[in-house]
Amino acid sequence: MVGMKLRKKFEKGIINKLKSYYIGSLFKKKVRANVLKGKEGADVMAVYQIVRIGESVLKEKAQEVGKITPNIHKLLDNMVETMYDANGVGLAAPQIGVPKRVVVIDTGDGLFELINPVITEKTGEELDQEGCLSIPNLVGDVRRAKKIVAQALNRNGELLEYEAEGLLARAFQHEIDHLNGILFVDVAENVYDKK
Ligand code: NI
Repeated sequence: MVGMKLRKKFEKGIINKLKSYYIGSLFKKKVRANVLKGKEGADVMAVYQIVRIGESVLKEKAQEVGKITPNIHKLLDNMVETMYDANGVGLAAPQIGVPKRVVVIDTGDGLFELINPVITEKTGEELDQEGCLSIPNLVGDVRRAKKIVAQALNRNGELLEYEAEGLLARAFQHEIDHLNGILFVDVAENVYDKK
C-alpha cells in the first residue's frame, strides 16, 4: 500500500469490532518482539525483496492456504518485517513472489495478519490517492468502498470478522486485489508520477 508520507493524507481507519482490534494489538506486540530478536542475530525473520510491476506473479490469482503450517507462520513473520522495513501500510504475499492468499496490514491501528481474506460487505464510495510498494514511482486516484466487512483466518486458524473504514478499508481492498492479480493502476481513475 502507500508509504508513510502518503499516510497522513488519509483519515485514520476505524475498527468497530473491538475483539478483532485487541487481537490485532496483541499480535503487534508479539511480532515486534520477534523483530527485535531477529535483529540480534536469530534467524527468525527476513526482509524480502519486493517484486515490481511487470513480474507475472503480480498478475496471477493467488492460491488459498489449506493448512496453516509453520511455513505459513514464517511467511507472515517475514511479510511483517518486509512491510515495516519498506515503510508500507500493507503487503500481499505475491509482492514477495509467493502466490498465496496471505496479507499483512498496519495503517497505524494495529497489525492485521489475514489468511484467505474475503470482503463480505462494501458500503459507500470514496476517491482517494493510493500507491503501492510494487509500483514505487506512481500514485493514482482510486475509487473504493468507504466501509467494508471482511473475514479472514488469523495465524491460529480462527475465522475473524473485521469492520473497517477510511484508510484501513482501502488497505483491505488494495491488498485483497493483489491476491486476484489486480494492481491499483488497473483500477485507478488517474495515474501520475509520485513527487
Ligand atoms: Ni500494493
